[in-house]
Amino acid sequence: LGGGRLAGKRILVTSGPTHEPIDPVRYIANRSSGAQGTAIAAALRDLGAKVVFVTGPADVPPPQGVEVVKVQTAREMLEAVQAALPADAAVMAAAVADWRVANAAGSKMKKDGSGKAPGLEFAENPDILATVSKSGDKRPGLVVGFAAETDNVIEYATAKRLRKGCDWIVANDVSPATGIMGGSSNAVTIISDQGAESWPMMGKDEVARRLAARIAGALTEPSVK
Ligand code: C5P
Repeated sequence: LGGGRLAGKRILVTSGPTHEPIDPVRYIANRSSGAQGTAIAAALRDLGAKVVFVTGPADVPPPQGVEVVKVQTAREMLEAVQAALPADAAVMAAAVADWRVANAAGSKMKKDGSGKAPGLEFAENPDILATVSKSGDKRPGLVVGFAAETDNVIEYATAKRLRKGCDWIVANDVSPATGIMGGSSNAVTIISDQGAESWPMMGKDEVARRLAARIAGALTEPSVK
């Protein structure tokens, strides 16, 4: 076993979208390649952490050398996350669908020839980040959430940090003009109780390495948190 600043630490990472079925062949989902979450898991692994990687159906393959738990829906993700606790830290990078289809069909829905489209009903999914942040004595010492916003990024993300009860929010501007969504670069702002720290545009791998180093600092020297 190698050393590394995160040796002996267990870190949970969520990544990718969730898929919420409409019927056995259709689903709703958020756009998410899983690239940033996968890079974070790899960077934490490289610092010696034991990583549990809970992932929805992502475009990129999961990293080597981590424990991979594959899920489809938000409710499955919550279950996998709770089964993975306790952990020293949790990084929740998944793009979880806020709603699932409440009237999902057990068999493929068919056009009935009337020209009338089916009506979908939605139910709210559990908020995994908020649940983990409020999980009492099972709460990881450091909980990191993400916020993809298209406007007022810092203001909305600061409110989100307080609402969800996490320690840090990694906020990014995903308005279409930035090209961040599905791209290989990212420009993030880290929001903590110390305020907002904006990093320049850099590769998602570099964002992951810097975030992993910051996490290592917080876990080994808690005053940094
Ligand atoms: O509220 P919003 O979806 O923008 O929050 C984003 C953050 O919350 C991300 O860290 C995401 O993984 C997490 N989240 C979650 N469960 C949900 C919705 C979002 O864990 N149902």
